[in-house]
Amino acid sequence: MAEPRPGLALRFQRRFLAARPLRSLPWPELEQSLRTAPDSALLADILHKLESTAAEPLDELYEALADVLKEEEESTHCYKNYLLPSGDCVSLCESTALISGGTTGLLTWEAALHLAQWALQNPGLFRGRTVLELGSGIGFTGIAICRSCQPRTFIFSDCHPRVLRQLGENLQLNGLTPEGVTCSIQTESQGQELEGQNCHTPKVIVAELDWGSVTEKQLLALRADIVIAADVVYDPEIILALIGMLQKLSTSRADRKAPEVFIASTIRNPDTYQLFQAELDKAGIRWQVIPAHSSCHFLYDEQPDVTILQLFI
Ligand SMILES: C[S@@+](CC[C@H](N)C(=O)[O-])C[C@H]1O[C@@H](n2cnc3c(N)ncnc32)[C@H](O)[C@@H]1O
Repeated sequence: MAEPRPGLALRFQRRFLAARPLRSLPWPELEQSLRTAPDSALLADILHKLESTAAEPLDELYEALADVLKEEEESTHCYKNYLLPSGDCVSLCESTALISGGTTGLLTWEAALHLAQWALQNPGLFRGRTVLELGSGIGFTGIAICRSCQPRTFIFSDCHPRVLRQLGENLQLNGLTPEGVTCSIQTESQGQELEGQNCHTPKVIVAELDWGSVTEKQLLALRADIVIAADVVYDPEIILALIGMLQKLSTSRADRKAPEVFIASTIRNPDTYQLFQAELDKAGIRWQVIPAHSSCHFLYDEQPDVTILQLFI
């Protein structure tokens, strides 16, 4: 019989005791838990578990947890620069807190770095095509692809208003002018206009897209050839919404070929990841693991456990 899934506090404790980097702790799951049921007892339990260990808890860990508690307060931010293999630079304004404004979307996660590296090694997949990114966050992967892979159109999407605002600012910072910041989904006729775009200057769109509420018609209007996402598999509820959306994407294709789908995930909790694979199987979505590079060009220290799955919808 499979072991029951350890609680969130226990997973914090295990990672902490194993001296894993602070970022590899299950912050997105914590965000999701607090979003569905604000619960200071959970935070107290996490602190208790960490304090009851022989180890001395890190100050930064307290600070990160404190950020969660006072998340409505002004979050601090910084500017980060990521050097692309071409020597070009992606500059982003990012939050210094792992969770701020009620979201984990205000900083760049390792899976986004790995996905960008893989994309830059496979530019032919993106050249001249319409790319839809789900849960884009503040834009690193998409900006790197726009700079290096010559897509015809790149559609950044997310559901969180603050993330969308920061994403818009980061696009401007990198010389990309979105068609309509936080535009909702376009109409089909607007989508058709995208077809004539020049490959060398990608058309950039920012779409407010929530997997839970987006309709098949709205997805069809986007006319995506390829769909990508990084670090969007971290909570059972999110997983179900994501798979529901992928099913809508597959039924919305009408006469078009189904988009190719690639999802990069940091495996923080193997149970959550297995649940994702089991739910894909249940939904009849075939998948295969894309062999990943063991090291990431954009990461200089510890390499997290990131996997890219190709889904056949
Ligand atoms: C852990 S962050 C990853 C951000 C970025 N892809 C990265 O890897 O740096 C997860 C992102 O998914 C977005 N997200 C979560 N649930 C969503 C939903 N139901 N619809 C659309 N986006 C969602 C969040 O707003 C957040 O930006």
